[in-house]
Amino acid sequence: MKASHVVRFLTDALDLVGVTDQGHDKRVGIVAHALAGRLGLPPATRDRIFVAGLLHDVGVSSTHAHDHLVADDQWGEVDRHCDRGARLLASLDGFAALMSIVRNHHRPWSSPEMAALPREGRVEANLVFLADRLDAWVSHGLGARAGALAKARASLGTLFSPSFAPALDSIAQGADFWADMGRERLSRRVDGILHAIAFEPLSARDLATLPYLMAAIVDAKCPYTAEHSFRVAAIARRMGEAHDLPGAECEQLQTAGLLHDIGKLAIPDEIVNKRGPLDADERRVMEEHARHSYEVIVRLPGLERIAELARHHHEREDGRGYPDGIGGTTLPLAARILGVADVFQALTQRRPYRPGKDEAEVRRTLADARRSGWLDATALDALDARFDEYWALSTGPLALRGLDPGLARLCLNGAPDDQAATTTSSAPRTPLPALSSRIVTSPASRPRLR
Ligand SMILES: [Fe+2]
Ligand SMILES: [Fe+2]
Ligand SMILES: [Fe+2]
Repeated sequence: MKASHVVRFLTDALDLVGVTDQGHDKRVGIVAHALAGRLGLPPATRDRIFVAGLLHDVGVSSTHAHDHLVADDQWGEVDRHCDRGARLLASLDGFAALMSIVRNHHRPWSSPEMAALPREGRVEANLVFLADRLDAWVSHGLGARAGALAKARASLGTLFSPSFAPALDSIAQGADFWADMGRERLSRRVDGILHAIAFEPLSARDLATLPYLMAAIVDAKCPYTAEHSFRVAAIARRMGEAHDLPGAECEQLQTAGLLHDIGKLAIPDEIVNKRGPLDADERRVMEEHARHSYEVIVRLPGLERIAELARHHHEREDGRGYPDGIGGTTLPLAARILGVADVFQALTQRRPYRPGKDEAEVRRTLADARRSGWLDATALDALDARFDEYWALSTGPLALRGLDPGLARLCLNGAPDDQAATTTSSAPRTPLPALSSRIVTSPASRPRLR
């Protein structure tokens, strides 16, 4: 897997957050890259600005935050996504050079924080800010282009560097600059630029970290689903091992657990967080998430199998699930295990519409699911065989050994910083243990929790 694939994967996932306005991150990358070219910045700087543009909103998981960031220049919570995005990227050695751009991509040029940066870093972050605001202002409508450029010009010296004036003039004269930013064309333009960049090969450590970074982004979508992906990953992996599935398949189950709900980024917050049953239309929108997960993951070379597992995590034993309505042994056992691990973890976790269920309620619900043809009997047998162990993995304290401590803190949402630090600091940062040993429960979680 190449770094360009990872960038494309991340920007595809982040684009989902726009829901009805997808493509913001890609457009910002392309516009920032074009502005950098018109300013005559060196190729390496242009490349860095491009990739930073594609990933600049990596700290945004909720549609609520996305909408505010596009519509409201003065939004009071703007710093949070910059800081979170920089901390997420800090966990990948290959992308650490983007941290400063992401952290500062909403800071006015004239602010003291920007004045304190080295000139090059200040220009890079500020160009991404300009591209970001141009895209936000233009998205108000086709007639908004002239207005957006006028607004940008009027902000030179305050929001943006005065040195950007020639680039803005050049855009104003180039009639084709905004042309055809439709989804397909946008992706082709992104790929064209990405493939010309000479990325360093990604380290094994970065490749192992990537699914965790993605899970941290997905689980941040909703306060109720914090840690869901990590726990599903741990449970599904253990179930695979207990069932004597081959090692490679157990690894795939863990990665699929981390990535299975990526498509939820495309579901509006008000549906994901609704305090009550979804109506038929909302349910249809929600059910699209499995297909979205597949479409984003399947583009990563080597992860096709994991994309399939993610696609089918809501199928039912009786064939009445989604998105494909296939069940029984048509589905590989790993997919059925992932489905059971997902339901089991969700049952134990608080949801907007109900509290977390206690052990008796969970056992009752699973028994009903077996009778009604919802969940697969073989996978349920595997769960029953070590119920207490899975209960601990689902509800007990989690430690993410070997993971970058900063990322572990972001992953263990809601855990006090010092707790996350103690659960991770004893592990060596490099070399990382195999992915398989990353998720463990601490001994304190082993007693039965009733
Ligand atoms: Fe932003
Ligand atoms: Fe943005
Ligand atoms: Fe799901």
